[in-house]
Amino acid sequence: MRKIFLLLTIVSFAWTQSFDYVGTNGCKTCHKSSKKGAQYVKWSEGPHANAFETLKSAESAKIAQEMGLKVAAYEAPECLSCHATGYGNGGYEVKDASFWDQKTEKGKPTRDVKRMTGLQSVSCEACHGPGKSYKSSKKMKAIFIGKLDGKTVGLEEQTEQTCLACHNEKSPTYVKFDYIARSKEMAHPISAEMRKELHEKYSSK
Ligand code: HEC
Ligand code: HEC
Ligand code: HEC
Ligand code: HEC
Repeated sequence: MRKIFLLLTIVSFAWTQSFDYVGTNGCKTCHKSSKKGAQYVKWSEGPHANAFETLKSAESAKIAQEMGLKVAAYEAPECLSCHATGYGNGGYEVKDASFWDQKTEKGKPTRDVKRMTGLQSVSCEACHGPGKSYKSSKKMKAIFIGKLDGKTVGLEEQTEQTCLACHNEKSPTYVKFDYIARSKEMAHPISAEMRKELHEKYSSK
């Protein structure tokens, strides 16, 4: 029995590892239009986009000190597991100054730097799953009209469990989590009308 359990654990681990994180920039381009729900904009203005900055606050420094952490809160696994995306699982990684200093010839941050910046905080992929394999327009439309099962390309379904992965008693500042009420505070739906219109558009192709 234990062997089977171990095997299942390894298999499911390998499965989740097979999808890569792209960071919020990989979603922004297609999900900021207000006609289609402005998910990126709503997320930026909502509670999750600031989760990494929060780790730089005086309150965070105090919590880290009380817990006896050896590094600053924004570099501590004990905090990044919930205040960043995919930490320890192929997503956000703590990097040194030379990584962050990387620039392209035109003086812009490199792709690697932009990806890592987009994995700070609780970004899209923290709830929707690593996006590299589902983010193409063709796949997204197929998923949307029900022709492709999102799970086979890494797009996860959201349930209360998705939230409880972080909104739980391991959070040093835990407040009781009310799923229905809290979901409304961060919702970013496509309107029913637009949904119908898009369904027809994508299905007719
Ligand atoms: C190339 C454009 C493109 C990119 C990039 C993209 N999407 Fe999408 N996505 C779409 C389209 C098109 C739809 C269908 C609805 C629409 O038109 O807005 C969609 C639908 C979705 C849906 C609803 C799926 C369903 O079951 O109905 C989710 C969730 C989603 N995208 C999340 C993401 C996330 C997270 C990222 C970044 C990792 C991302 N998308 C990147 C184009 C894109
Ligand atoms: C990867 C971890 C993570 C997941 C998953 C997550 N959250 Fe959060 N959430 C946070 C963190 C961290 C904060 C605090 C951000 C800050 O204050 O900087 C937060 C804050 C919030 C807040 C505002 C503060 C509060 O408690 O009132 C709401 C509302 C919220 N989350 C709702 C949700 C809902 C609903 C889900 C599931 C659909 C969810 N969250 C999933 C980590 C997460
Ligand atoms: C804290 C968790 C969380 C984060 C962060 C998050 N989402 Fe969502 N998203 C949800 C939930 C929950 C739903 C509703 C799913 C449902 O209705 O089954 C949703 C729905 C969607 C939909 C489908 C809307 C519809 O009406 O069909 C799209 C598109 C989407 N999210 C894109 C994004 C993008 C892009 C980002 C980042 C900019 C993002 N989400 C960040 C939890 C999250
Ligand atoms: C198990 C997930 C989890 C871990 C681990 C975690 N947090 Fe949070 N953090 C959250 C969530 C969720 C919230 C939103 C409020 C709540 O329900 O706790 C939050 C909110 C906060 C806030 C804002 C509180 C407020 O008044 O709004 C601070 C500051 C904070 N966390 C600091 C830290 C520090 C520092 C660490 C590491 C020592 C840490 N957190 C570890 C999940 C976590």
